[in-house]
Amino acid sequence: MTETPANYTTAVSIAEKKVVVLRDLDSLYNYRLSQAAAWAPIQNLRQDQIRLGFVPTMGALHEGHLELVRRAREKCQKVIVSIFVNPYQFAPHEDFSKYPRTFERDLELLQSVGADAVFYPDEKLIYPNGKEKITAVIPPSPLNDTLEGEFRPTFFRGVATVVLKLFNLVQPHIAFFGQKDYQQWKVIETMVKDLNLPVDIVGVPTVRESDGLAMSSRNAYLDEKARKEATNLYKALCTTRELMEGGKNPSQAAAEAAKLLQESQGWQLQYLKVCRSESLEAMPDKYSKPCVILAAAKLGEVRLIDNLPIADFD
Ligand code: PAJ
Repeated sequence: MTETPANYTTAVSIAEKKVVVLRDLDSLYNYRLSQAAAWAPIQNLRQDQIRLGFVPTMGALHEGHLELVRRAREKCQKVIVSIFVNPYQFAPHEDFSKYPRTFERDLELLQSVGADAVFYPDEKLIYPNGKEKITAVIPPSPLNDTLEGEFRPTFFRGVATVVLKLFNLVQPHIAFFGQKDYQQWKVIETMVKDLNLPVDIVGVPTVRESDGLAMSSRNAYLDEKARKEATNLYKALCTTRELMEGGKNPSQAAAEAAKLLQESQGWQLQYLKVCRSESLEAMPDKYSKPCVILAAAKLGEVRLIDNLPIADFD
């Protein structure tokens, strides 16, 4: 078997590698340069297969994030993860200041899955003139203002802007996003297409706990009782799908599943909708695939989102 660059990196013992922490632009750019130099001989051999993979995160890492890093590892020669709790995507009443920050543990986890470097900038580096003064990227409607956008009107502006900045700083060939944040993934894909960004986007399926709850850094806010209840959000998505497959139209199915969820303890449902998988426009009244069922609900003070994509071949 011929040795591909992918084999070449996985052959390096993960345990022996140390994740490099990059805190400022000089170290980030130097890291990129040194890697480019190290790749040059391989690049000459197989120009099309040299890839820098990038996984943007806000830290408080869990298996969902680690799965993105593993996917990046499989496809890329080098993997950079960023950890930056982006203030620009939080509304003033949201949880920016209490968002979990667990850098030391994150570093250990990243080491265990073989990330090469962590870009861990502070706020001044990303927003030197303050986030209020930044040139913003505003995704188009309806992506920007339906579903999550209806409840978090400035959220995707904050996400798209910081992701574009991170892409420009890190200059990855491929970036990995979780389907857990389905609408965010579509916003980024759209931005990349619309602005001709030279980066490929890979969407990684949602990683779930054994009872179906989608993994999320915000699950840490759930107390024991709420944690048990939380699995019902995923159940509501599955129920919607079953009802559609049993012949109900999308809006009826979603309404019935929503009613069931609201009958169980402590939920304030924000939306449960069946949408077209790419545009996220509402499905007309006839069920057809591909589509995606998306929901957001507050359980007490904790806001949870989840979705269930249904592919053509499902
Ligand atoms: P964060 O919530 O930390 O998530 C980082 C990445 O991990 C996102 O692409 C998200 O979709 C993915 N992810 C989270 N939970 C997952 C799960 N259970 N299964 C699969 N993937 C999962 O999303 C953000 O940060 C920020 O908005 C960011 C893109 C970094 C911009 O600030």
